[in-house]
Amino acid sequence: MTKLSNTRTLAQATKAVHAGTLRSQFGETSEALFLTQGYVYDSAEQAEARFLNTQPGYQYSRFSNPTVTMFEERMAALEGAEVARATATGMAAVTAALLSQLSAGDHIIAARALFGSCLYIVEDLCPRFGIAATLVDGKDLTAWADAVRPNTKAFFLESPTNPTLEVYDIAAIADIAHAAGARLVVDNVFATPVFQSPLKLGADVVVYSATKHIDGQGRCLGGVVLCSEDFLTKYLQVFIRQTGPSISPFNAWVMLKSLETLHLRVEKQAENAARVADALAQHPAILRLIYPGRADHPQAEIIARQMTGGSNMVAFEVKGGKAAAFAVENALEVIHISNNLGDSKSLITHPATTTHQRLKPEQRADLGISDGLLRLSVGLEDAGDLIEDLTLALDRL
Ligand SMILES: Cc1ncc(COP(=O)(O)O)c(C=O)c1O
Repeated sequence: MTKLSNTRTLAQATKAVHAGTLRSQFGETSEALFLTQGYVYDSAEQAEARFLNTQPGYQYSRFSNPTVTMFEERMAALEGAEVARATATGMAAVTAALLSQLSAGDHIIAARALFGSCLYIVEDLCPRFGIAATLVDGKDLTAWADAVRPNTKAFFLESPTNPTLEVYDIAAIADIAHAAGARLVVDNVFATPVFQSPLKLGADVVVYSATKHIDGQGRCLGGVVLCSEDFLTKYLQVFIRQTGPSISPFNAWVMLKSLETLHLRVEKQAENAARVADALAQHPAILRLIYPGRADHPQAEIIARQMTGGSNMVAFEVKGGKAAAFAVENALEVIHISNNLGDSKSLITHPATTTHQRLKPEQRADLGISDGLLRLSVGLEDAGDLIEDLTLALDRL
């Protein structure tokens, strides 16, 4: 096998096409799919050496697989991370990134505006295993600092958040975490590697649901954890190897090939989202519009510092609460109702009754998830068609 040499001087878009390629003896242009569970050895001595780690090579696809390696190396190159490990889902990535480093007696601080399943990990699962958890308003730097305890080991946030697209100051929060001797883990799903690089802002670990923009075409589930060699060796490697949240080589191959078009897709989606957001902002049926690419976003100053684009996500509140929000969803023809996001198809969801249904009404109110709020993941359709679809639906209210 041949491998692309050092790609560090290349631009992100070039790395997205080439980085991590392992070419077999057949010299294929498109990366090979190694759909294999195991590997055979030339001798008993070779098998022993592989297990002793004295000889490089694959042993079993729960630990590693050449197609998965290509996806991991490409992701690491895109993110500027020392290493990456792929997982079966985004939630497996979040769980591995947090639980691999935490033990009973430790303390985690997280922004309370988290995706529902991430909130479950922090709020329900961690305490069940003796890891204390504190949830703070992610915008409030003093709240992060005040929540620190002597046993605080990890900070966790997503930015922009799901679904209200709040943005947090990653560099400032990383500084608070580091001063406390803790690591900052950032879920970078909404921003994507194209628009935000948390490691460059000071985060220690980045996680993705590759299910979203990385696949980008609604096919496979997947996740990625990006971190330092040190974090991998101390915590992540053994956790993944022994607990088995491994990605299927097939899914890793789909993700790997999707990375080649990530920039094109995400940049076009963000361009569409900006046009959709501007059109929605004018509509009389809209109470509140949130788009990280607009000057009226409450954290526009932080966005200008830490993001290079506004993302494909738009949130808006319609007048008339749940009934009006449902009426808008049901009247749409081009945009589909789905709790998924990052797809080439535009998808809309009503967070209060879907992704954030599990929260108590007061928690939702606290997070700004009103009954009239809709979250739109803008896809690759013609922006004019999307605007017309939304306008016609809103006009009926
Ligand atoms: C911000 C965020 N993190 C994590 C996840 C979980 O990813 P997956 O569905 O791939 O497990 C999601 C899924 O919607 C998400 O939106």
